[in-house]
Amino acid sequence: MYEKNTEGSRELFEEAKKYLPGGVTYHIRYIEPYPFYVKKAKGSRIWDVDGNEYTDYWMAHGAAILGHGYEPIINAIKEQLDYGIHFGWCNEWEIKWAKAVTDWFGLDKVRPSNSGTEANMYAIRLARAYTGRRKIGKFAGGWHGGYDGLHKAVSYPYDKPSSLGLTKCVQDDIIVLPFNDLEGVYQKIKNEELAAIIVEPVLGAGGAIPAQKEFLKGLREICDEKGIVLIFDEVITGFRFYRGATNYYGVKPDLITTGKAVGGQYFPGAGAIVGISDIMDLIDHLKRKNFWERVFHGGTYTGNALTMRAGYLLIRELMNKKDEIFPYLSNLGDYFRMSLKETFEDKNIKALVSGIGSMIGIHFTEASTLNPVEITEKSNIELMKRYHKHMLDNRIVYLSPYSPHLFISIAHNKEDIDRFVDVTRDFIEKIGNK
Ligand SMILES: Cc1ncc(COP(=O)(O)O)c(C=O)c1O
Repeated sequence: MYEKNTEGSRELFEEAKKYLPGGVTYHIRYIEPYPFYVKKAKGSRIWDVDGNEYTDYWMAHGAAILGHGYEPIINAIKEQLDYGIHFGWCNEWEIKWAKAVTDWFGLDKVRPSNSGTEANMYAIRLARAYTGRRKIGKFAGGWHGGYDGLHKAVSYPYDKPSSLGLTKCVQDDIIVLPFNDLEGVYQKIKNEELAAIIVEPVLGAGGAIPAQKEFLKGLREICDEKGIVLIFDEVITGFRFYRGATNYYGVKPDLITTGKAVGGQYFPGAGAIVGISDIMDLIDHLKRKNFWERVFHGGTYTGNALTMRAGYLLIRELMNKKDEIFPYLSNLGDYFRMSLKETFEDKNIKALVSGIGSMIGIHFTEASTLNPVEITEKSNIELMKRYHKHMLDNRIVYLSPYSPHLFISIAHNKEDIDRFVDVTRDFIEKIGNK
C-alpha cells in the first residue's frame, strides 16, 4: 500500500496546504490522498522523505534522459557554482550552447528562454511578426505550456475552456485542429489566414501519441502552400531522439521550440527557440535598429551560465555517445511496448500501447487509431486510475493516471521493465478476480 510508511509525506502535505494552493507547486504532482516528498534521486530511482524507494518513469517531466544525478553534468556544475551562476552579462557558455543547439537541430539561429512555455510564446510572436497574420493552428490534445495564446483544447473535454481567466479575443485566435488527420486540417483552415501551425511530433501530455510521418509531411506542404510558419514543439522530443524528432521524421519545420533537457536536464531556465535566419533575425537589434521594427525577446535569467553550461554538456554527451544512447533507448522502449502489448493481449485487456523511442503511452481504450480525441473518448478512465494506484502501491511512479505517458532514461534497464510488466500482470489478475 502506498500509505504504508509514508507518514512523513502525509505530515508535509498537511503543512503544505497552509501555504500552497492545493498543497502543491503544480497540480499534476498531486497524488491521492497526498503526494510523496522526494529527498533524493539517482539514476532511475527516487527516495522519499520516509526512505521509500520508487522506480521513476516520470523522470523530471521527461527531462532526465541520462537519468537523475548524471555525474559528468553534476560535477561540472559544482565547478560552475564557484565561478557564479547568473551574472546578467554575456558569458562564454551561451556561445558554446548556441552552437551545439543549432548544430543539433540543423537550423540557423537560437535564443534561450526560461521554459518551454516561454519558448512557445516567443515562437508565436515571431511567426506573427514574420507573416503579419494573427491566428494560430494548434492540435486538440496538444500541450505547449500555460501561455494564453496556446492554452486551448488541452484536456478532454476539449470544448471546455482549458483555464479560467482566458480572454475571448485570445481564444478566438487559436484554431483547434485534428491530430493525424490531414484532410481535417485542410477543412479547418481553408478559410483562415494562419500565422503558424504548432505541433508536437509526439504528443507528450496527450499520452505519447506519435504523429504519422505522412501527416507531418502533409503539414509541411500545407504550410508551404499557404505561407504559414510551421513550428515543431520539441520541448520533450528535442533530445529524446538523435537530433530531435525533426531528424527522426525527416521533416523540417521553420521554428523549433524546446525546453527541459536543453538546459542540462535538471536546471531551471531551460528553453530555446531555434529557427531559420529569416525568422530569427526579426529579433536582431543590429539589423533592426528600432524596437518597433523588431521582435522583443529577453529575460533576467535567459542564458545564465549554469543552465548554458549544463545544456551544452548534455548535448556534447548525446553527440559523443549517440551510437550507444539512442539505440539503447529505442531498443529498451520497443521491448517495453512489446512486453506490455503481449501482456494485455494475453489477458484480453483492451489497451493501446503507444509511443516511440523512450516515450511510452498506456491507454485502456477501445480506440484503434492514433487520434487523441478518439483515444480519450473511448478510454476507461476508472481502470486507468486503478492501474496507476496499483503501480504506486508497488512503488512504481508515472504520470498521469488519465493519459499515462512514461519516460525511460539510459539509467533504466531490462530488469526495471520486467518488473513493471510483472506488476502490470498482477494488476490484471487482481481486477480479473473482482
Ligand atoms: C510539448 C511541451 N511543450 C511545452 C511545455 C511547457 O514547458 P515548460 O513546462 O518548461 O514551460 C511542455 C511541458 O511539459 C511540453 O511537454
